[in-house]
Amino acid sequence: MPSIQLEINTGKLSGEGVITAQKKLSQLENVFEDEATRASMDQEQLIYEVQAFMPVEEGKEGGLYFGNSTIFPGKVNEEYFMTRGHFHAKLDTAEYYWCIQGKGALILMDENGKTWLEEMTPGSVHYIPGKIAHRVANTGEEKLVFNACWPSEAGHDYGTIEKEGFGARLKDIEGTPTLVATKNEMV
Ligand code: 6PG
Ligand code: NI
Repeated sequence: MPSIQLEINTGKLSGEGVITAQKKLSQLENVFEDEATRASMDQEQLIYEVQAFMPVEEGKEGGLYFGNSTIFPGKVNEEYFMTRGHFHAKLDTAEYYWCIQGKGALILMDENGKTWLEEMTPGSVHYIPGKIAHRVANTGEEKLVFNACWPSEAGHDYGTIEKEGFGARLKDIEGTPTLVATKNEMV
């Protein structure tokens, strides 16, 4: 008997040890460019939900974690609903993402602020190398669901993104998801 179950149509995890965390708009202060619009919207709005199965202690070398993330559709002004984004605390640790449902973009940034994206569609597999910050935006009309696998020693560094942001933001520009640079020559 495996210890957890993955529902292959929805990407949802169930079983003993699976933890679930939700991020509402109220918990995402200063994440979106237009903070005034974010603050004026329904603060109870669910932006994303993350499930994780962490069979070994966090920080222990050599283990692997398994997760599911669901990002709901919507925008704050022109900017699509998205995750906070992070580098891994142990910087040179990689991660796999693979898309189950919906449409979106994996936004990647190197340590110099150079920012680019990979489109996410059902079945797309994304290797995120070490030292690369990662964030996911939902550019579609339905839920965007993806699974992830990452090393147990990776941890999360949210502080760098809180301070510096990404080099570009993903916005709906006349109906097309477009990376818009936030600093000179960073895209
Ligand atoms: C990780 C994964 C992934 C991520 C979620 C939520 O390293 O744990 O990249 O599970 O944490 O998609 O995104 P944020 O952690 O950036 O809020
Ligand atoms: Ni990660």
